[in-house]
Amino acid sequence: MKTLVLANQKGGVGKSAVATLLSQHLVRRGHRVLAVDFDHQGNFTSPVTLSKRATVSSTTADQLMSTPGARVPPDPFVLVPAADGLMALERQPVNHTPFARNLQGFIRSVDAHFDVCVIDTNPSPDIRLIAAMAVADFVLSPIQLNQEAIDGVRALLHHPRVGLNKIKAVLNPKLKLIGLLPTMLEPTPFQKANFLGLINHYLPMLIKVGEGAGQLASIPKRSAIAEAQAEGLLLWEMKKTAAREAWAEIEPSLQRIADIVLARDLAHAV
Ligand SMILES: Nc1ncnc2c1ncn2[C@@H]1O[C@H](COP(=O)(O)OP(=O)(O)OP(=O)(O)O)[C@@H](O)[C@H]1O
Ligand SMILES: [Mg+2]
Repeated sequence: MKTLVLANQKGGVGKSAVATLLSQHLVRRGHRVLAVDFDHQGNFTSPVTLSKRATVSSTTADQLMSTPGARVPPDPFVLVPAADGLMALERQPVNHTPFARNLQGFIRSVDAHFDVCVIDTNPSPDIRLIAAMAVADFVLSPIQLNQEAIDGVRALLHHPRVGLNKIKAVLNPKLKLIGLLPTMLEPTPFQKANFLGLINHYLPMLIKVGEGAGQLASIPKRSAIAEAQAEGLLLWEMKKTAAREAWAEIEPSLQRIADIVLARDLAHAV
């Protein structure tokens, strides 16, 4: 099993939407997926539950950290849902090391049952994010194209507590950044200029989907994606043509990420 964490301390950038779409894509391709929602807001839990495609475990995400020996059903698509208990974990600093160790034990215990574990995180640098990054193989960072978000890339790498460099140095040397995934793209001059700025500063951190210049993974802004998230629908099954078109637009980016996670293209990850 490979474990992928969606992380960006900026709120509302599309982490939960990407976690949902990527999980659906992996399941559609026949992979066994464990979906874990570490954000008490439950924006990954809700669409996956509503879609009725996953087994929702009675073990909740906070218990993966608070309880040694947590278990989930051995089904092909399992959701470990968010719960209010997630909010209490940060307030128990003496238990942070056991929390991270329990999560690590759990991830090891399900290694043979799933191909990919997708973990969605909350947008604050707390123990949930640290424990997730400490056990993960990969980080994927959805990013919106505004200056503030682009400035936030520095925090993703250099934050003193949850920055990728710190986690790699102290807790998890195997952690790899798949890359930055621009989300909610709109064809406005403002966003185009910001995309160019991102390319100028951070090209090695963007995810190539083809050999041509500018063939980079991204997710456009589409009302069908917000609708699918809210109602737990699968884009490719929705009646609206616009929804199926949105799926066709994003599928190459999701496939590229899936290929990297499933180690068919390790050369890319940095
Ligand atoms: N590509 C998209 N097109 C249109 N709407 C989108 C897209 N991606 C996400 N959204 C919508 O934008 C809102 C924020 O997205 P999402 O919840 O995925 O962000 P997030 O980074 O997980 O937020 P948080 O930091 O609060 O967890 C949601 O209402 C979601 O449905
Ligand atoms: Mg979210």
